[in-house]
Amino acid sequence: MHALHDGARSLAKPALYAELESSLRALLAGEPNLVSCAANMSSLLFWSLPDLNWVGFYLLDEASGDLLVGPFHGKPACVRIPLDKGVCGAAAAQRNTLVVKDVHAFPGHIACDSASNSEVVVPIVLADGRLLGVLDLDSPLVNRFDDEDARGLERLVATFVATVEEGVRGGSAGSEGRAGRAGRPGRS
Ligand code: SME
Repeated sequence: MHALHDGARSLAKPALYAELESSLRALLAGEPNLVSCAANMSSLLFWSLPDLNWVGFYLLDEASGDLLVGPFHGKPACVRIPLDKGVCGAAAAQRNTLVVKDVHAFPGHIACDSASNSEVVVPIVLADGRLLGVLDLDSPLVNRFDDEDARGLERLVATFVATVEEGVRGGSAGSEGRAGRAGRPGRS
């Protein structure tokens, strides 16, 4: 359901990300629940983009200020990442997409899966400026990700944010994955 057909994996990146965009919109349509949308988006990306070994979300835990692992596809990963640690922490703190061609050359890189050699991390920021977390993709290839991946993934994250924004803000079931603070309407 909704994963791209096999041929799509060999498309040039602009066409591949355009197809992913429409698949993601169909997959998330009308569902504001953060965990549900993040789970399906992780799966879509893992099965549609070539040469990945991990795709997933780290979500900001408001109580501790750390990133906590959220829905993902891949091997079990480190649970908690402070904002001053790792590629994920750096992307979150800077609110900038980071493309790391060789993770072994990145000071402070956290090796969750020894197969990972390159990585891209996209910050997830709500319309009101609050940081929700990051989307993290790892590859066993060195130099797997480039600017086209970064821009394509940023567009997919924007679609994700537009879909879950209402659930996160409203304190509905959509906020459960955010900081374990489900059912507190009106929290901002
Ligand atoms: N490599 C990341 C940690 C998360 S794993 O790759 C799943 C980092 O340095 O932040």
